[in-house]
Amino acid sequence: MTTPRPETLAKLTPVLTKRWLSPDAWRLGTYEKLDGYAALRKALKAHPDDLIQLIKDSGLRGRGGAGFPTGLKWGFIPQGDGKPHYLVVNADEGEPGTCKDLPLMTHDPHSLVEGVIIASYAIRANRAYIYIRGEAVHAARRLRNAVQEAKAKGYLGKNILGSGFDLELVVHSGAGAYICGEETALLDSLEGFRGQPRLRPPFPATHGLYASPTVVNNVGTIASVPYIVLAGANWWKSMGTEKSAGPMIYSLSGRIANPGQYECGLGITLRELIELAGGMQPGHNLKFWTPGGSSTPLLTAEHLDVPLDFEGVAAAGSILGTTATQIFSDQDCPVYATYRWLEFYHHESCGKCTPCREGNYWMVRVYRRILAGQGTQADLDTLLDTCDNILGRSFCGLGDGATSPVTSSLKYFKQDYLDYIEGRTAPKLSDKQLVGA
Ligand code: NAI
Ligand code: SF4
Repeated sequence: MTTPRPETLAKLTPVLTKRWLSPDAWRLGTYEKLDGYAALRKALKAHPDDLIQLIKDSGLRGRGGAGFPTGLKWGFIPQGDGKPHYLVVNADEGEPGTCKDLPLMTHDPHSLVEGVIIASYAIRANRAYIYIRGEAVHAARRLRNAVQEAKAKGYLGKNILGSGFDLELVVHSGAGAYICGEETALLDSLEGFRGQPRLRPPFPATHGLYASPTVVNNVGTIASVPYIVLAGANWWKSMGTEKSAGPMIYSLSGRIANPGQYECGLGITLRELIELAGGMQPGHNLKFWTPGGSSTPLLTAEHLDVPLDFEGVAAAGSILGTTATQIFSDQDCPVYATYRWLEFYHHESCGKCTPCREGNYWMVRVYRRILAGQGTQADLDTLLDTCDNILGRSFCGLGDGATSPVTSSLKYFKQDYLDYIEGRTAPKLSDKQLVGA
């Protein structure tokens, strides 16, 4: 394990993670001692439109993967329309490798609750939901406890802190379907239907929950709001880059010495993150990695100095996504890793549209053939052709995302595929594993 240099250590900017190591930070009393609910008091004295403007000025972009400007999204909510407005927090974190929202909700649930109250006040919503992944039982317990504590203290419910603003906040646990992290499938699920994506447009901003104007934001996005309200837009913009402002939680996993969450200004590089994480594990050299979960095209050791912000990663041919950097070494096989991700997409495909439902099914079969040593060169063309028919032709992002590891691993590691096909690499799957493919 290597020790990070002081100049690299200085790149850590704990903002959303700053309370995670304080014992009992999830309890209201501790949270309040650590600045908790000070932003809410300040926000309730401001006009809601000024709060929306503040978030626009800060440059905050969605932390769920797409990076859509948050203030702009809030500004889409029609005002004076006579309809109820809703805030829905997407806490259905399910992208492989992604694990930034769960620790936040477990260690610092009140920061999310406080953010929800401020955001709801800004968009004039009197009802908000946190849709949390069904498997996240402990985080859901912490959140429900935080909601109870906040209610008892007058931060939630009727006439919050004497402001005249009312808000009910419901924590809703999903049933463990990855597709329910897609915002419109999430809304269907919340309404009690089977979670399947809806056609967009119209976007939830105008036709969301119960066909009413709805803001759907990620946990990290909403939890950022109290910090911006307290310290201002310029402070937020002092971190990150011009177009990708603020700090970001990078989740490092795989072949590194100290996996975990590293919060740094957007634009840090993987080289620096690996240094912060104590280097690669002994005997491992970086071979490939995901910048933001498995739906983002793989990058390689050539990309160690790519700035990990929305623009930098796009220029390198990938997507920043959820900043879940899964790190693989020369002892890992990109063909096998891609196969495992594809099994996931195949399993999680909701089946609504043909390209994704059929395409992933067939690609899994092709991968099994290749990994069992029975593939042919024509299989590689079949994979690319199938991806061509999924990408841009699927109903939602799941289908598109499934093609990312396939096309990128074929782009950078075609030789690894050929080694299976031409018998230089021993098969990883047996004939028996082809059965049922
Ligand atoms: P998107 O770019 O289509 O939309 C982003 C947000 O902006 C949505 O809330 C959408 O409603 C809003 N929006 C976009 N255009 C709009 C318009 N003209 N008017 C009003 N609102 C508008 O991205 P999408 O499909 O919502 O999310 C894709 C991302 O999700 C991927 O980049 C991926 O990284 C990420 N993802 C995250 C997962 C996680 O566990 N956090 C899981 C899977 C994917
Ligand atoms: Fe369902 Fe996949 Fe189509 Fe999305 S792309 S609607 S997950 S079948």
